[in-house]
Amino acid sequence: MFIPGKIIKTFKTKKGREIIIRYPKWEDLDEFLRYINQLSKEDTFVTFSGEIISKEEEGRVLANWFLAMEMGNKVVLGCFDKEKLIGLANVDRDLSARTRKKHIGVLGISVEDNYRSQGIGFELAKTIIEEIKNKIKGIKMIVLDVFGPNKKAISLYKKLGFEVYGVLEKGLLYKGKYISDVEIVKYL
Ligand SMILES: CC(C)(COP(=O)(O)OP(=O)(O)OC[C@H]1O[C@@H](n2cnc3c(N)ncnc32)[C@H](O)[C@@H]1OP(=O)(O)O)[C@@H](O)C(=O)NCCC(=O)NCCS
Repeated sequence: MFIPGKIIKTFKTKKGREIIIRYPKWEDLDEFLRYINQLSKEDTFVTFSGEIISKEEEGRVLANWFLAMEMGNKVVLGCFDKEKLIGLANVDRDLSARTRKKHIGVLGISVEDNYRSQGIGFELAKTIIEEIKNKIKGIKMIVLDVFGPNKKAISLYKKLGFEVYGVLEKGLLYKGKYISDVEIVKYL
């Protein structure tokens, strides 16, 4: 069962800030909206590249997340500095091939720019990997696509035990150039 706002863990960053890792709740909507629009504007190694998300769109996204979590097909965890959202991770069951890929989880993760390189991404990723073992039944592996030049993320995932299983050269369009799409997996 999905419990909105449930705290999973608190930890201190390398700079000594106390961070809470918890499930989202409806009252976080404005924070999610601020966070996603800031990340999109940054135009970094994520799928958003400057699109502006409206409150209505983000509200629908949040509502769909809550339903998917209730159905055992998704986990979303946020990192909060008090009430400020500063990191976000999600794992989604792959339902793209009906039941054929339902043992596969797809990971997404980001940390707000001025909170990066303080150990938050690592703590958040480690926590969500543990959490999905109970919440997304039958999950056997986690996969994701990393932008080739995203050395920071690749080194984070290697530290977590992910391995590269494929590279699609020129598979992603990033700031006007075609770059490699690195496919990685961690078996659970
Ligand atoms: C990738 C990302 C989630 C990592 O989160 P983070 O909080 O910055 O990472 P951490 O501080 O926990 O660092 C974890 C590991 O990443 C690597 N790393 C972190 N900062 C780094 C830096 N400045 N240079 C090189 N490697 C770095 C290191 O291996 C580090 O482990 P270490 O601290 O033991 O050396 C974050 O940088 C981010 O949101 N980037 C933009 C969005 C993005 O790229 N998302 C991933 C899409 S696949």
